[in-house]
Amino acid sequence: MITEITVEQILAGYNDQAALSDAYTIPAPWYVDPRIAELERHTVFSKTWQVIGRVDQVEKPGQFVTATVAGEPMVAVRGNDDILRAFYNVCRHHAAAVVTEPCGQASILHCPYHGWNYGLDGSLKGMPEFDGVKNFERKDNGLVPVKVDTWETLVFVNLDPHAGSLQDFLGGLVTGKSLSITTSTAAITCRICTKA
Ligand code: FES
Repeated sequence: MITEITVEQILAGYNDQAALSDAYTIPAPWYVDPRIAELERHTVFSKTWQVIGRVDQVEKPGQFVTATVAGEPMVAVRGNDDILRAFYNVCRHHAAAVVTEPCGQASILHCPYHGWNYGLDGSLKGMPEFDGVKNFERKDNGLVPVKVDTWETLVFVNLDPHAGSLQDFLGGLVTGKSLSITTSTAAITCRICTKA
């Protein structure tokens, strides 16, 4: 009988306290075991600042960019008040994706499933055929916000409502100019919004 190696055993297979001269590459399961990916999702990607787009994609009111962070659909959108906000891209009706394009510009966020409309500030504006529904407060059913910030050319979100600032997260990076940004953004280029 083959006994599956536990996550604890996988993690114990690497000594992160080893001196540099004794260091070695992390074990293969850290790259391929879905349990490690899930652990990372919960402990790293859902609690740290993650890039979801470029600042030039959300420069103007109504411009938005979508992405998935830690398995959660996100949308960042510039409001008419010029404030950049980010939300879970999940309709408060039946949880469909409200914004289905990778990026673009809109005057309102329109859920394609049953037509609920949200303002660029995430507030619920309209619900077709919803008249007469009791115990429903429109003001309590806007898109759920997440932390958003920018640095240099990049837009970041953080799913942890208690997270520290992006500036603290980046630490010394924010005081220096990193030429590597050019290569970092290549992976998140939106084919629709990319300027020629
Ligand atoms: S799921 Fe969005 S309107 Fe129904």
